[in-house]
Amino acid sequence: MASSHFHSSLSLLFLVAFCFLHHHQVYAEEQVLKFKLNADILQESIVRHVNEHPHAGWKAAMNPSFSNYSVSQFKHILGVKQSPEKDLKSTPVLSHPKSLKLPKSFDAREAWPQCITIGTILDQGHCGSCWAFAAVESLSDRFCIHYNMNISLSVNDLLACCGFMCGDGCDGGYPISAWRYFVRHGVVTAECDPYFDTDGCSHPGCEPAYNTPKCVRHCVDKNQIWRKSKHYGVNAYRIKKDPYDIMAEVYKNGPVEVDFTVYEDFAHYKSGVYKHITGDELGGHAVKLIGWGTSDDGEDYWLLANQWNRGWGDDGYFKIKRGTNECGIEEDVVAGLPSPRNIAREASI
Ligand SMILES: *[C@@H]1O[C@H](CO)[C@@H](O)[C@H](O)[C@H]1NC(C)=O
Ligand SMILES: *[C@@H]1O[C@H](CO)[C@@H](O)[C@H](O)[C@H]1NC(C)=O
Repeated sequence: MASSHFHSSLSLLFLVAFCFLHHHQVYAEEQVLKFKLNADILQESIVRHVNEHPHAGWKAAMNPSFSNYSVSQFKHILGVKQSPEKDLKSTPVLSHPKSLKLPKSFDAREAWPQCITIGTILDQGHCGSCWAFAAVESLSDRFCIHYNMNISLSVNDLLACCGFMCGDGCDGGYPISAWRYFVRHGVVTAECDPYFDTDGCSHPGCEPAYNTPKCVRHCVDKNQIWRKSKHYGVNAYRIKKDPYDIMAEVYKNGPVEVDFTVYEDFAHYKSGVYKHITGDELGGHAVKLIGWGTSDDGEDYWLLANQWNRGWGDDGYFKIKRGTNECGIEEDVVAGLPSPRNIAREASI
């Protein structure tokens, strides 16, 4: 009796002590983060750490694209929100029969050289719109691959008009919802509804407030009709996280949208096969996966197009370790097929 009473008093004491310490630790972490948010994202110390690391496999640099970005501004462009569980559960997960013989390396730009959008590097500016960019870019590529047409679709349409179904516009969104929007509502061309402006960020609502554009539903050119400019998706699906399934999907149907966890070191990527070496976790980012291969050092990689302009990374592209779900790159792959709806009319004009 006495002993059990003693025990419970003791546990209570530990509990109080634990809460006290824990509270202090959380407080200290908040202070560190607050201090860090205003710091520059690019740090010479990170460049040195990576470049002196004997097994990094990649090179770091002070990428000019982010020379004026604080940690907080950089975090803001990492616009992938965790999809609601019910949306993920109701999305079909695609796999491919293992009978397909896949090449050791593959680059969608070389497989479909007539499709100029595959090799176009864009710039999302200060808006957390990566979830929309990677979707729209992959769908544009797929229209070319499946229907032999050059077309650039509109990120702005998704950002402004998908609303809460896609998340929160420039404050981040759900990759799978972008593909669902293509099926339900279609997406107009970039010519009809262009992204803020071509250099990324000199429009109203970019800095310091990152306002999501308003949904207008009119083409900038009065001679074009919004409804007729819509291009649709047939379906929206996830791809099984097995690297074989991801490769087969890209090989058969074209580029896909992927997302992954970004750490501080990734802002400094210059060349080689990225894997996380140093720095804190900053957020989730979506990009377009266009191929794969194996480096001279024998490291398997994925090949991806980012939308941080050509001043970032390897002329706008990067490679990341393949087969080990590095930074979660293999577990959230989404895509859909382009629909012939509306394009037959275009061809018959
Ligand atoms: C960074 O900011 C400074 C001062 O605001 C400006 O003069 C410079 O052009 C900017 N650099 C880039 C690469 O944007
Ligand atoms: C797309 O445009 C490029 C450059 O204008 C051209 O070379 C290519 O043949 C076009 N592709 C298709 C599918 O029309």
